[in-house]
Amino acid sequence: MRRKIIVGNWKMHKTIREAREFIAVFDAFSAECAKKGVDLGIAPSYLALETLSSTAKHTLIAAQNVNEHDKGAFTGEISIPMLREINVTGAIVGHSERRAYYNETNESCNAKLKALSANNMTPIYCVGETLAQKEKNESESVVRREIEEGLKGIRKEDVAKIIVAYEPVWAIGTGKNASPDIAEAMCGYIRETIKELYDEETAEKVRIQYGGSVKVNNVAGYLARPNIDGALVGGASLEAETFIELVSAIL
Ligand code: PGA
Repeated sequence: MRRKIIVGNWKMHKTIREAREFIAVFDAFSAECAKKGVDLGIAPSYLALETLSSTAKHTLIAAQNVNEHDKGAFTGEISIPMLREINVTGAIVGHSERRAYYNETNESCNAKLKALSANNMTPIYCVGETLAQKEKNESESVVRREIEEGLKGIRKEDVAKIIVAYEPVWAIGTGKNASPDIAEAMCGYIRETIKELYDEETAEKVRIQYGGSVKVNNVAGYLARPNIDGALVGGASLEAETFIELVSAIL
């Protein structure tokens, strides 16, 4: 039985002070949820990571990006050893905003996923088609390529620990969430693809989230589906009260 996992992606929101106020309320709620089989996480900006990781005892704290090298001449980048030193145990890889604005590719995601797995960190690997790709009926082929190329060369033991987030780009921050039927179909397709590339046992272990305009009034519809194990939540994760309400809708 896979545990549920709901993660808030704060993007470029919240100062350190705001993050501190949030986690003071939120971490106790994470403790309650963990007992009910629901893991909660927050991906803040790099600056607020230590504030959260030094306070939170029950919440997965994840970076929004990471560099695959341990150190070197990579101005502006943050490495895995830097994250580990402050007890950050996860990282988002390949969010569509990073693919669109910072030229992330399946190949660069693959290098990051390999480095995270080698360091026993939990990756949240984002996949999903754009509106143009959807209109050309390419949703499945795009997502399949993201899975194949992103996970290339990663051992099945490590693949089993990766969280995949299916985030159709047309649904992110637009208020136009994918229907639970569409989300379930694609999450099922992702699981099938992993089964084909690895085996059934690995595919059954991978946790798959849906992301894109998840709100308090639609989250339960996703989590009720057999292949959807959680959600990656942007806008609705910014206020502790709203995010707690959202998670409460599936408890
Ligand atoms: P949204 O963002 O919930 O604001 O649509 C989701 C995401 O980008 O992960």
